[in-house]
Amino acid sequence: MIRAAITAVAGNLPENVLTNTDLAKFVDTSDEWITSRTGIKERRIENDLSRATSDVAVPAVLELCRKRGISPEEIDLLICGTVTPDMMFPSTSNLICAKIGAKNAWGFDLAAACSGFIFGLSTGSQFIETGKYKKVVVVGIDLMSRILDFTDRTTCVIFGDGGGAVLLEPTEEEEGIMDFILHADGNGATNLNLRGGGSRFPSNHDTVDKKMHFVYQEGQAVFKHAIYAMADVSAEIMKKNNLKAEDINWLVPHQANKRIVDGTSNKMGIGSEKVMMNIERYGNTTAGTIPLLLWDYEKQLKKGDNLIISAFGGGFTWGSVYVKWAYDGSKFGK
Ligand code: ACO
Repeated sequence: MIRAAITAVAGNLPENVLTNTDLAKFVDTSDEWITSRTGIKERRIENDLSRATSDVAVPAVLELCRKRGISPEEIDLLICGTVTPDMMFPSTSNLICAKIGAKNAWGFDLAAACSGFIFGLSTGSQFIETGKYKKVVVVGIDLMSRILDFTDRTTCVIFGDGGGAVLLEPTEEEEGIMDFILHADGNGATNLNLRGGGSRFPSNHDTVDKKMHFVYQEGQAVFKHAIYAMADVSAEIMKKNNLKAEDINWLVPHQANKRIVDGTSNKMGIGSEKVMMNIERYGNTTAGTIPLLLWDYEKQLKKGDNLIISAFGGGFTWGSVYVKWAYDGSKFGK
């Protein structure tokens, strides 16, 4: 059987750091509130408005190619998980491919908010498993600062900009993307959305005046769904694959809120030493959090490690991917 193995990982973040203390200078909040409610201390913001999502993605994809020693022309497919595309069309995937010279690739954007990367990873793995493609790039990236209302303290403190990418290649070994369970429930649209600019609310002065081009979130409702959904789907994929807590080397949880991550890992019986975390430095980068975690922790990853990757986001969308890591990260990690 052919499986899709992750054979390289890379990330990219804007240089500009916005701390909780910086935020408290222009919105009614405090470092104490943000830290205790979310675990976030600072986030990155792309404040150069000439740079869009594809520009921030390009260095990550080029780094991926460099690490693996391949040319962008070898990429067959590039899936970009994002809810902050450069524009409505063409897709950010197309723009990334054009910028890096991936002229033999096609691709598409995948809008599943914080689950964008795991939905893309699962989709990309199928093109490898069928034998159709040899090199699939999955990007997860968002510039959330472009869709945030920086006068709304309930949303602007949570998110940040950045993301990363992985390369999928075929393997006949017992490793790679072993299983996934994905879910979606469009009824969650009322609790978490960005309504303006689509066919339901085309952009006009009214949509701007009503702030409909910004993220809208009912935090508590989303929190309740997220904490149960992430824990349940993680437990489900472990049971389905006969994995006990001691078999798991790493839990790779979407970085929405430290309290949601703690709830998930507690329910799974996984100690904090096995939980990848970087929310304190980057906030919630939506589709970007999981590739950024893999990039940050790459050095510690060993061939054969069992990873449970879990996410929850707007849609609602949620799911888990079981990955058996395919290479020794100590040679490549930063
Ligand atoms: N600073 C200070 N006070 C604040 C802030 C702030 N930044 N934001 C809200 N408050 C206040 C509220 O006004 C409220 O005050 P009140 O009691 O006087 O009315 C109080 O703090 C408590 O507000 P809650 O909304 O109940 O705070 P909560 O503990 O739920 O934390 C948070 C809010 C962090 C948003 C949390 O609900 C959360 O993490 N939700 C889930 C987020 C998530 O997982 N999203 C999915 C992924 S995102 C995506 O897909 C795009």
